[in-house]
Parts: sequence; C-alpha cells; structure tokens
Amino acid sequence: MLLGARFLFDTLIALLAMALLPGLFDRLFSPAARNLGTTRGLLLALYLVLAGGAALALRLGVLGPSHEPLTGWRAMGLGLSFTVLGCSLLSNFIPPERPIATGRRDFLRSAARLLAVSPAAVAGYGTFIGRHDFRLTEIDLPVTGLSRDLEGLRIVQLSDIHLGPFMSARELVRLVDMANGTRPHLAVVTGDLISDLGDPLDDALAALKNLKADAGILGCHGNHEIHARAEDYATREGARLGLRFLRHQSQLLQFGQAWLNVAGVDHQSERTGYLRGAEKLVKPGAINLLLSHNPDVFPIAAQKGFAVTLAGHTHGGQVNLEILRANLNIATLYTPYTLGLYREGSASIYVTSGIGTIGVPVRFGAPPEVALLRLRAT
Ligand SMILES: [Fe+2]
Repeated sequence: MLLGARFLFDTLIALLAMALLPGLFDRLFSPAARNLGTTRGLLLALYLVLAGGAALALRLGVLGPSHEPLTGWRAMGLGLSFTVLGCSLLSNFIPPERPIATGRRDFLRSAARLLAVSPAAVAGYGTFIGRHDFRLTEIDLPVTGLSRDLEGLRIVQLSDIHLGPFMSARELVRLVDMANGTRPHLAVVTGDLISDLGDPLDDALAALKNLKADAGILGCHGNHEIHARAEDYATREGARLGLRFLRHQSQLLQFGQAWLNVAGVDHQSERTGYLRGAEKLVKPGAINLLLSHNPDVFPIAAQKGFAVTLAGHTHGGQVNLEILRANLNIATLYTPYTLGLYREGSASIYVTSGIGTIGVPVRFGAPPEVALLRLRAT
C-alpha cells in the first residue's frame, strides 16, 4: 500500500507526461507546425539534454532533497516524464508563425497555459502563507505492551528547522514557546537545525535550549548538519546548553516504575547501510524509541527491536497532495514514509513535516508543525 503510493506518484507523472506528449510532438513535427528550422532543432536538443541530465541527476542522487540515488529504470522514467512536462510548458511560449486554430490545439494550449500558471499560484500561496502556517499537531502513538506509567507520556518533536534566510530565529523562539505550552515530559529534535555551512547554528541552539521538558532535550543529527560538517560542533555546543545529541548512543529515562530507552543515530544513508550495530542500543525491559532523521530506516529499526521511531527529513514533501489517504509528494520518490504515522507489525513511526524548507521556500499541503506525541498502549 505504501510502496503503492510511491509508484502511484510515478504513474501519475508518467500519465500526465503521456497526455502532453502528442501536443509536444504536434508542435515540433506536424506538417502544420510553423516552428521549423532553428527553433525546432533547439527544442529537440533541449529535450534530449534535459532528459539525459534529469535522469542522470536522479540516478546519482544529485537531484532531490534526499540526495539518495534512484534505481536506473526509475530515474530514467521519471527524468523523461519531468522533461516532457517541462518541454510542453516551454514550447507553449513559442508562438507559431501562422496561427493554427483547431479545437484540439486550442484545448491543448489552454491546458498547457493552465499548467503553466498553476505552479505559480501554488508557489505564491506556499511562499507567503503556507510556509508560515505553523501548527501544533497532536498524535496518539500506539505502543504495544506500554506500561501504565508510560501511558499518555508526552513527547514534543521539532525537526528540520533549517534556520537561515527563510526561517528566522524569532520564528523559532515562537515555536519553542508553542512546544513548551504542551508541557512535555520529553523534548526531541530530529535534525537539520540549519541547511548549510555559515547558517546561524548558534542561534538555533540558543533557541532550542529553552525547550522545557521534565526529562530534558534529546536529539539526533540530520543530513544537513553532516553536509555542513557541523555535527561535532553542534554536539559539543548542544551538550553545553543542555541539548544532548545522541550519536549512536542511548539514554535510559525512568518514569515511575517504567523505563523509556531513547536511542539516536546520525542521518543514515542507504549507501553505508541502515542502523549498523544499532541493536546494541536496544535495552531489554524498556520501551525502545529511536531518533533517526531519515525515516527510511523504519523497517530495520522495527526488526532490531525499536517499538517507536521518530523521524523527519521529508518535510512532508513540502508540496503534498493527499489522495485516498495516500500522500503524493516529491518525497515519495525516495521513501514510502513521507508524512504522519505508520505502523509495521507492532512498531510505529511518526514522520513529522518539520518546520523549515529546503530547495524552494514553499509549503503546500504539508504545513510546518510542532508535533506532540502521546504514547498510548495497544
Ligand atoms: Fe530537512
């Protein structure tokens, strides 16, 4: 079902590309077309370069926020589909020398114009409204065999802050206040405090140290701390300020007579293998909870004995369409766990949409959130 959602995304993009392909070919090659010579040649060359480039970038993991490589066939298929979409839109802006007025062509042109305008409308909403539409999301997180002392335990999760040009320290202070308003037993931060080297990491840590939770603040590092080579600094400074980043480490917390074992790992890459040796972090007799920036580790975490995984990384795709309870967004390209609560056997994962943005400063259908998770016995 979850994998189905991933391939549903591929299929929808491919179908859209196929629907637009006749119009594109018409414009390039039909005898009636007047965009001959240089224009046609340039468009064809552009198409081929873009198709090859997009497929290669997807294959190598250069394109897309996850930087995870896709398999060859999938990268090629998606690269071609996206390129047809792009070229269809581009070709629509090149006027024919002699207007060809047929009903079908008018329809295709209107459809293409609508397609050209729609992203701008979505981007406008997402940039100016959706990106700042901060929410408190409350989730009951099912845990098998939860003891009475852990029932209703409140964990507040902040993730993917990406403090920088599009997320201010003032906004983060407001979100920390929102998190404190939930009176959490535990606060967790699941990575990507910043986006790049030179971003205000100290400001992020200074705001996060004000999180107030009975059992303290624990965290793990995201791919952007690692990309910025800031993981060691963040760990040191965090420890000084009272925010402990768990780096292949765990911390046992006692609530009444019950134990919660919180483990954390740095961002996990598929290239190096997920959660190697993490089984040593699992404590028998405790509820084991894993902080992992990357949600893809979930099936392996479940196998290794983690009852709960808390993750971020996907941003809910930033632009998300929910169809028949399946989330369709760019993150479905690289993980089936894009947004919200998932279960596998007796294990659960919550994937937060996080707070900030990456790539384009837009959110639509995946509002930024502070997540409040309540453990519930099943
Ligand atoms: Fe992120």
